[in-house]
Amino acid sequence: MAAPHESRVYSDFARFYDSVFGRAFLDHEHEVIESINFRPDQRVLEVGVGTGISLDAYPPYIHIVGIDPSADMLAQAAAKASENQWGHVELRQGDAQALDFPDNSFDYVCSFHVMTVVPDPVRKMREMVRVCKPGGRIVVINHFSSPHPVLYFLNTMINPITKHLGWTTRLRVQDVIDGQPIELERNERVSMLSVHHVIIGRKADSITA
Ligand SMILES: C[S@@+](CC[C@H](N)C(=O)[O-])C[C@H]1O[C@@H](n2cnc3c(N)ncnc32)[C@H](O)[C@@H]1O
Repeated sequence: MAAPHESRVYSDFARFYDSVFGRAFLDHEHEVIESINFRPDQRVLEVGVGTGISLDAYPPYIHIVGIDPSADMLAQAAAKASENQWGHVELRQGDAQALDFPDNSFDYVCSFHVMTVVPDPVRKMREMVRVCKPGGRIVVINHFSSPHPVLYFLNTMINPITKHLGWTTRLRVQDVIDGQPIELERNERVSMLSVHHVIIGRKADSITA
């Protein structure tokens, strides 16, 4: 059985991604990014940037690095960057679970709708925190399973279907934030009616191993 990250949605169907998933994700991603007070020359990493539906929400005075393992998804993002002449956007292939950047490299490390796709979301979160500067922010948007045991059980029942489409329904917010050296500034649904959850965490100034 295929795991979520092996789904062909992020390769064969990359051309159709924006009109299917993009419609569901774009508004709240833009809303969250636009709520952030970026300062000139700050460095942002977007992990699992996909086709780049978020990219035009970032201000042009920061530097954004977007990584994704799917060459097909990145090709769509690269087309947007080229069409819009975004010199402040850099795109690379990469894996969220082994980020190819030194510790403390970015002011913001963002990731939207990728937590439930990767095989090891805790390792992904650890990597995001590692490459974030002390005092920088981790910004995650995702749907998560309910912590309520009955709802969690119901969520897991549809997992065999969703994992073929490319995501798991088994991941809870606590699974990815517990034990991370971050101070939560937001940990709530994006809006009252939304099923999407936003986490904004400030990386601790000093971390003792
Ligand atoms: C649901 S899409 C989200 C894309 C984009 N962030 C958005 O909001 O539209 C999931 C993305 O995760 C990417 N992905 C899968 N495995 C990954 C990994 N190990 N590391 C980083 N990204 C991964 C897929 O290629 C895909 O682009």
